[in-house]
Amino acid sequence: PEKLEQLYEGKAKKVYRTTDPDLFMVDYKDDATAFNGAKKGTIQNKGVLNNRISAVFFKLLEEKGIPTHFVELVSDREMLVKSLKIILIEVIVRNIAAGSLAKRLGLPEGTPMSRPVLEFYYKDDKLGDPMINEYHIRALDLATPEQIDTIKDIALKVNDILLEYLSDKKIDLVDFKLEFGLHKGQVVLGDEISPDTCRFWDRDTREKLDKDRFRRDLGSVEEAYEEVFRRLTGKSSDQ
Ligand code: C5P
Repeated sequence: PEKLEQLYEGKAKKVYRTTDPDLFMVDYKDDATAFNGAKKGTIQNKGVLNNRISAVFFKLLEEKGIPTHFVELVSDREMLVKSLKIILIEVIVRNIAAGSLAKRLGLPEGTPMSRPVLEFYYKDDKLGDPMINEYHIRALDLATPEQIDTIKDIALKVNDILLEYLSDKKIDLVDFKLEFGLHKGQVVLGDEISPDTCRFWDRDTREKLDKDRFRRDLGSVEEAYEEVFRRLTGKSSDQ
C-alpha cells in the first residue's frame, strides 16, 4: 500500500492513511518530550531505534497470541500497522516502584511490588493524562466492561511475556505503558513498546536504559536506546 495524507502527528510519531483502508503507516520521530510536553528535545536516531525495538516486541507478542497492530517494518523509521480507532486510555503495568508510583506512595525507587500493579490514565494532553479507574472509564464511555476485561487481560499477559523475554537479556522490566484501539471491532494492542514507554534497568548495574536518561538529564540517552536494541537483537542499529 502507498502512504497517503498524514492523519495525526503526536509527540514521537506521525500516522498516515494508506491506499488500504485497513492499514496505517507510522513514522517514528527523533523528537523527545517529557513532563507532558514541558521538556522538549531530540534524541539522535531515536526514531530508528524505537521503530525497530517496537517491531521486535510486537513480533514476539504476536507469536505468543497477543493481537497487535503491527504488520511489518517498511523502512528505518516506518512501520505498517492495522488501522485502529484509538481507545482513549493509557494502561501502565508496574513490577518495581519508580516514577510517579514511587512518588505517590512514598516508596523508594527500586522497591519490588509483590504483585504487578495495573493503572489506567485518561489519554488527554490538555488534562495531563489524569489517573482514572474503571468507574471513570464506564462513566465516560471510554470502553465497555468486556473491552476493559480484555485490556486488563492483554496488559498482564504482555507483562508476563516481556518479563520472561527480558530476563534472558539481563534487563529488569520496571514498568511500561500500553495503548489499545479497535480494529474491525476487536481490541488490539497499538502504539509502541520502546525505551520511550518502558522503564528498563540493567539487572546487574541497575543502570537506566530508557527515557529517564532524558527526563533526568543523565546523559548517554542514545547509547542507552542502542544498548536495548543490541541486547534484543545482538546487532547495532547500523548493521
Ligand atoms: O511517569 P510514570 O512513573 O507514571 O510512568 C510509568 C511508565 O509509563 C514509564 O515507563 C513511562 O515511560 C510510561 N509512560 C508513557 N507515557 C506516558 C506516561 C508514562 O509511556 N504518558
